[in-house]
Amino acid sequence: MDLQTEVRRLKKERNAVILAHNYQLEEVQQVADYVGDSFYLSKIAANTKEDVIVFCGVRFMAETAKILSPRKTVLLPESGAGCPLADMITVEGLREMKARYPGVPVVCYINSSAEVKAECDICCTSSNAVKIVRSLPERRILFVPDENLGQYVAQKVPDKELILWQGHCRTHAKVKPADVESVRARYPEAKILIHPECEPAVVAMADFAGSTSEIINYAKQSTAKVFIIGTEAGVLHNLNDSCPEKQFYLLHPGLICPNMKMTRLNSVYQALLTSRHEIEVPAELAYRAQSMLNKMLELA
Ligand code: 13P
Repeated sequence: MDLQTEVRRLKKERNAVILAHNYQLEEVQQVADYVGDSFYLSKIAANTKEDVIVFCGVRFMAETAKILSPRKTVLLPESGAGCPLADMITVEGLREMKARYPGVPVVCYINSSAEVKAECDICCTSSNAVKIVRSLPERRILFVPDENLGQYVAQKVPDKELILWQGHCRTHAKVKPADVESVRARYPEAKILIHPECEPAVVAMADFAGSTSEIINYAKQSTAKVFIIGTEAGVLHNLNDSCPEKQFYLLHPGLICPNMKMTRLNSVYQALLTSRHEIEVPAELAYRAQSMLNKMLELA
């Protein structure tokens, strides 16, 4: 049995759409209808016409799709695919933080649970965090849960005072300034493209910082020939396919997210065949989380 053909057949039969994050395995990206960053995929999830959304990514992404399209069946092919960064904040911890800063609005990175989103004022992704923070009238803003992204935003919007939660992405946190120095010495002509989930000292050394899709677009449009990629290895599939004349090197060998790599082509097939791992979000929670997600979609 050819799995790719079977996935495509089942997808039609079930009137399903397959969304895949840029970090997914190549075999998964190949069967997806849409591949992109968190922001792009949330817009697609909000507007898709199909009955079933198979979300190839991690749990918070599938949850977000369910919140934005509550009448659809949303499937997460691997139920264990979580996000350690999203797990670094709890509702209780967030409530304590909010109690210390009454009336201060909370901007919440999309890498968070539905419960946490429901307690926040507006959502953001890495591609629109600067824009979202800048758009708020208040000077003081709580930013959760990614401290590195928060510091990146704080630097771009210096008239705001950001109070940060101390969460981080374990994969991006592996990259240190010494890694950038060593690739610079090895490939002096290369452009260094880095995700803002990396440490501020690392991001400061980049030629360009942006979301996964922004990194891909930058490399596609650049006249440079060699690029050092400072985000998860999955983006290399798109880059190598669309720019065969350019060279791409990973900034650090550990830039592989074990959660993003759980989903295989067979997981997508099983999800379509058995409806496995349907995402449910309690209605009251979904209602509150939808409002902060819609605010992002309107503003960004
Ligand atoms: P993007 O917004 O670039 O998709 O980033 C998502 C993410 O989780 C990065 O680790």
